[in-house]
Amino acid sequence: MPHDIRDEWRARRRGPFPPGETRPSLKNTWRFRHDVLDLLRDCYAEHGPIFGIRIIFGYNLALIGPEANHFVLVGGRENFGWRDGAMGHLLPLIGDGLLTTDGDYHDASRAILMPAFHRERIEEATNVMREEATAAVDALAAGAAADVYEWARTLAMRIAMRALFGFDPDSGRATEIAGHFERGLSFHGREYPMQLLFGPGTPLAQLRRDRIALEQLVGAEIARRRNDGTDGADILSSLLASTDEEGRSLTDRQVLDHVLTLLFAGHDTATSTVSFLVYELARNPAWADAIATELAEVCGPRDPDAEQLFSGLPVLTRAVDETLRLYPPAWIGPRRSVRDFVFDGVRAPAGIPCFYSSWVSHRLPDVFPDPDRFDPDRFLPERRALWPRGAYVPFGMGPRVCIGKRFGYTEVHAIAAALVRRFRFELPPGRELEINQAPTLSPRGGLPVRLTSR
Ligand code: HEM
Repeated sequence: MPHDIRDEWRARRRGPFPPGETRPSLKNTWRFRHDVLDLLRDCYAEHGPIFGIRIIFGYNLALIGPEANHFVLVGGRENFGWRDGAMGHLLPLIGDGLLTTDGDYHDASRAILMPAFHRERIEEATNVMREEATAAVDALAAGAAADVYEWARTLAMRIAMRALFGFDPDSGRATEIAGHFERGLSFHGREYPMQLLFGPGTPLAQLRRDRIALEQLVGAEIARRRNDGTDGADILSSLLASTDEEGRSLTDRQVLDHVLTLLFAGHDTATSTVSFLVYELARNPAWADAIATELAEVCGPRDPDAEQLFSGLPVLTRAVDETLRLYPPAWIGPRRSVRDFVFDGVRAPAGIPCFYSSWVSHRLPDVFPDPDRFDPDRFLPERRALWPRGAYVPFGMGPRVCIGKRFGYTEVHAIAAALVRRFRFELPPGRELEINQAPTLSPRGGLPVRLTSR
């Protein structure tokens, strides 16, 4: 963007820049889109934990590795803003929610949202997760091929419709909201040049139409509940009832933006984690068998309850944790530097797009030996205790750690438990995993898997 170039040149006049590429490079631009993990690992090996890289014409600062994660998220976080980084690109769809705001506005909103994510609320949502997961698994046929990615995506949306809005997921308003939201979200998976077009008929114009439709549909539901005083166990009800320390409620617009942000932040992430877990279990059937044995021993013929899902199934949890290490769906944390700062002895200027990356940090061989291998036993407590702080950050860390962590973690466990109890997984012969990276990591072209009964 032109203002990025202007800010960069202003900053260059004030002093030297961190190491790294400064000239436009078609090769780096191509690799950023198609081979970003190895591109950034190569840059890290050459330049260390902070370096510059130009993608198309935009200059970005990458901060990579455990110390860098800790610096961006905790120790040096006052140096970075979210809204003016690439998070701001989400504004046309999700508006001013937690992902796109900073400072007092963000902190006050987060305090208002917190009660909706308390443990008891998640326990209520767990029943929805279990019911939906069981029904979705019942609909799968043994011996058939299924696209587990599409299956998990539909399931995660049904769970979101019930847990967020209290809607029957088969009702007209739920399917309309889901449809507009999915289409709006697909904008962020388009090739970047397509995203820059504006005017009638462009993807951006479609995105705006979808946002308007969502404003009308969700707005009508908010108005209905305010009029009737309807209260439910869903997150929307919790937001409508919440007040800040001075007793002020959220406005309708604020509730809308928060709900859409939660839908955005929770939907793709859970879908992708389930898909990548199934991919790894298909390649590592001994782990799938170990999880099935654990489920039989801990839960017998019953579905796991909320507490078991969150902390009572250590083998499943290690497999989920390892999946989130190898494929953290929210793989990049975009920011903008709001002041000059120094990290690892390197001075960096204000006004520059920056990012940390869990994905790249989780795949550094100096932190995780043999980093590309699926090895859930890395998460045994005695091995985990050796990691430096900031090494493992699939949910971020610090004051802005994922607010939906317990929700998402429980949801992934509930879906995985229902699937593994019933089925073994097999990948089509010769199928290579390709990864899409926008807006979150996902298996490109879905995840076809053959299911056989256990
Ligand atoms: C496996 C599931 C999930 C993963 C891996 C995940 C990952 C993350 C990560 C990495 C961040 C921090 C991003 C950054 O530092 O730039 C984040 C923030 C956030 N997540 Fe999640 N998330 C998951 C599920 C959910 C769910 C289910 C919800 C809501 C229902 C949610 C809501 C949010 C929100 C609102 C934020 C912003 C928090 C703030 O800035 O205060 N996430 N998530």
